[in-house]
Amino acid sequence: VTGSSTAPDQPITIRTATEEDWDAVLAVASAAFHDDPDAEVAAAERISFDPTRTLVAERDGQVVGTAAILTRQMCVPGSLVPTAHITLVSVAPTARRQGILTRFIRRQFDDARAAGEPVAALWASEARIYQRYGFGLAARRVSFVADSREIEIIDPGPGPEPGPGGDRGPDRSWLREGRPAEFRDTMRVIYDQVYPHRPGWSERSTRAWDLRLADPAAWRQGSTPLRIVVNDTAAGPDGYALWRVSRGWSDAGPNAEVRVVELVATNPRAYLSLWRFLLRLDLTRSVEVWTAAIDEPLFLLVTEPRRLQARMSDSLWVRILDLPAALTSRRYAAPVDLVFEVTDDLIGSNAGRWRLVGTPGSVSCTSTVEPADLSCDIRVLGSAYLGDQRFAALAAAGMIHEHRPGALAAASTAFGWHRAPSGLEVF
Ligand SMILES: CC(C)(COP(=O)(O)OP(=O)(O)OC[C@H]1O[C@@H](n2cnc3c(N)ncnc32)[C@H](O)[C@@H]1OP(=O)(O)O)[C@@H](O)C(=O)NCCC(=O)NCCS
Repeated sequence: VTGSSTAPDQPITIRTATEEDWDAVLAVASAAFHDDPDAEVAAAERISFDPTRTLVAERDGQVVGTAAILTRQMCVPGSLVPTAHITLVSVAPTARRQGILTRFIRRQFDDARAAGEPVAALWASEARIYQRYGFGLAARRVSFVADSREIEIIDPGPGPEPGPGGDRGPDRSWLREGRPAEFRDTMRVIYDQVYPHRPGWSERSTRAWDLRLADPAAWRQGSTPLRIVVNDTAAGPDGYALWRVSRGWSDAGPNAEVRVVELVATNPRAYLSLWRFLLRLDLTRSVEVWTAAIDEPLFLLVTEPRRLQARMSDSLWVRILDLPAALTSRRYAAPVDLVFEVTDDLIGSNAGRWRLVGTPGSVSCTSTVEPADLSCDIRVLGSAYLGDQRFAALAAAGMIHEHRPGALAAASTAFGWHRAPSGLEVF
């Protein structure tokens, strides 16, 4: 029941969900996203259902909206931060534009702050929905469709890691293939080594892995089930790729496409070995990656980067919920001592003047009456939080203003990070 039969003049109440709400939650979310889940998809969707962090809107005793938070840590520059991962946001078509989402968001912000989460993050179905609530574009993604027969992987050059051909002696590595379920623990060990160093990647609990590896036929869009290849060495596995193949034949011959779901490697040798494998699979002619980082090393490693046919788009949107807690939860690439004047329409305690004093090793952020060096809205700090958007670029967009010469350059350098943030999985 999605509420389409409820009376529009009845009051709408918002409450925390219970286990018994699941069917109604799934129904309202499916209607909102134009999905028609079969039993397998419904079971996969249920994996991340946590009623204690799910809200429902009710009208006339029927659920007409839902929104949830996943409790996870996210990697931010130099640290891991408890982050409200907002998901499942759905309002029944007949109950829209009556303020339900606004009520959900306010409540989620309060709940997240109470739970000790100084920031919230989400993937937006439509970005215009969230900017009004103070979310800033915090990570861009690159998608590409590599013309795999037109590119070669170059020799990365001499270094501690053996280049191509380094396949003998103690540095030997080899690939193993199998079903993802068999390699679950292996993937976990590798992922746990990598995610704390890539802003935007989130901690994965057992449930998060269950969801990542859930593979309902309806989600495959005509491709094969999930496949896995692991790079192994004498010292143990050090990288893996999860992928599918979308079959294709033309009159001219085989034309299948590899669809990379994720590739995680702890070192360049494993990264190169996995990419060589994916780019050289027989009967395939292209490799599609939907979300890669803007500093994806592959761009530097192929003979023809243009043949990757890269396109840039948005991935993570971040909302600063508790300004001093958020800004002291990350580290800064260079010493910084700046006063920010911040506006925030929704969370009054963020508004005002804040002095941020940071070094790569320590940081403090305190309320101050000193004159402002920079002034902006809270969503600008969300955009800069993971180190993607430079303040100088935000200033060029007219979104932050400099009151002391040099402040913008200093803030840009300090908030930047040596690795670009990236959204690895849609949640
Ligand atoms: C997005 C959605 C949840 C909005 O719910 P809602 O209860 O209608 O939103 P609200 O009434 O609280 O809207 C608040 C404001 O945002 C605007 N808004 C909401 N959704 C919008 C959209 N998709 N596009 C443009 N503006 C939108 C409203 O017009 C309103 O503006 P106003 O305050 O100036 O009048 C609902 O449209 C929906 O379920 N969409 C399909 C699923 C989806 O995209 N979910 C988001 C997943 S990330």
